[in-house]
Amino acid sequence: MSPNNIISSADRILVTGSNGFIGAKVVEILLEYGFSNVRCFVRPSSKLDRLKQMLAKYPAGKTAEIVAGDLLSREDCQKAADGVSVIYHLAAGMEKSFAGAFMNSALTTRNLMDAFLEHGRPARFVNVSSFTVYSNLKMERGALLDETCALEDNAQERFDAYCFGKLKQEELVRQYGEKRKLPYVILRPGAVFGPGKKALSGRVGIDTFGFFIHLGGENQLPLTFVDNCADAIVLAGLKPGVDGEIFNVVDDDLISSGEFLSAYKRKVKPFFSVRVPFFVANAMCSLWEQYSKRSQGQLPPVFNRRRAAAEWKGNRFSNQKLHERLGWKPRVNMEQAMNAFLAQYESRTP
Ligand SMILES: NC(=O)c1ccc[n+]([C@@H]2O[C@H](COP(=O)([O-])OP(=O)(O)OC[C@H]3O[C@@H](n4cnc5c(N)ncnc54)[C@H](OP(=O)(O)O)[C@@H]3O)[C@@H](O)[C@H]2O)c1
Repeated sequence: MSPNNIISSADRILVTGSNGFIGAKVVEILLEYGFSNVRCFVRPSSKLDRLKQMLAKYPAGKTAEIVAGDLLSREDCQKAADGVSVIYHLAAGMEKSFAGAFMNSALTTRNLMDAFLEHGRPARFVNVSSFTVYSNLKMERGALLDETCALEDNAQERFDAYCFGKLKQEELVRQYGEKRKLPYVILRPGAVFGPGKKALSGRVGIDTFGFFIHLGGENQLPLTFVDNCADAIVLAGLKPGVDGEIFNVVDDDLISSGEFLSAYKRKVKPFFSVRVPFFVANAMCSLWEQYSKRSQGQLPPVFNRRRAAAEWKGNRFSNQKLHERLGWKPRVNMEQAMNAFLAQYESRTP
């Protein structure tokens, strides 16, 4: 571990969502770096197989703590944040309702930040947000999307509860930074992929209508392999001099949606897909949106222009800030990452 970290290897670290797809990797990398006082927060209902298997692999896993609770409870947040120096906050609401997303992304974050300020020893609060917060509605196709780009200003019209929850969460974190001097860093990962997550990103296409509609064409995908993403998250909690900063997380040597789909078809299963260019997808989404408005919501506006822009318009992505300010480098290159992702389909794991 570098002597330039803001904490020592014995300081207490809390990871929320520690049993999740990315959270378990964050815990693993912390143990690998030699942090011996890692507290893993899980919900009482969580299946802990992934986390327990991973803890067993590392000597420092023996001293890691598992604390069960719900971040909606202020009492549980106090238990979680007690004596903690750095929080990696990955727990989030993935539900489709706006109320659910608000509760499990924004309210939980508020409870946790309050507990951290009152019961912790706050050195850094790492908030894991998402690319979903961006709006590229007014951006040109192919323009570079980086940390300075506009955020979505109408998540309701985009009919995207997850985006709404993440925007509210970020807003709160920035407020706590300004008003209560919470030292924070926000990370916005793109599409995180790797073993443990089999679903294809919606940015590639959709199979809602009984066959696969390939909407991503030759657009670059904002991919980040789970190990690379988790490493960026870990660094964000350790590096000095980055309080109040925001980092996009995407890998180097990004591939296109078409390349991703071809590799998937070659390795996993061939299937029929229809490629729909963006201008057609955008026109269809616009018609769907108008009809939904006219039918006064009888047809939910699941397809709309904002969503079309966010997922299929096609932008380029930068990880320059991640390299320069956090000293991040991908642990795994894109070829190795794709091989590891596709290899999971050979095993019988669900
Ligand atoms: N996966 C991606 O492609 C991606 C992309 C960009 C950003 N992110 C962000 O990265 C973070 C981790 O994502 P992931 O893919 O690892 O998700 P995940 O596997 O679904 O993990 C999310 C975790 O949050 C926990 N959680 C939800 N509500 C909670 C609450 N009220 N109290 C305590 N824990 C709660 C869940 O617990 P249970 O196990 O009990 O349900 C789950 O373990 C999230 O913030 C997500 O928004 C993910």
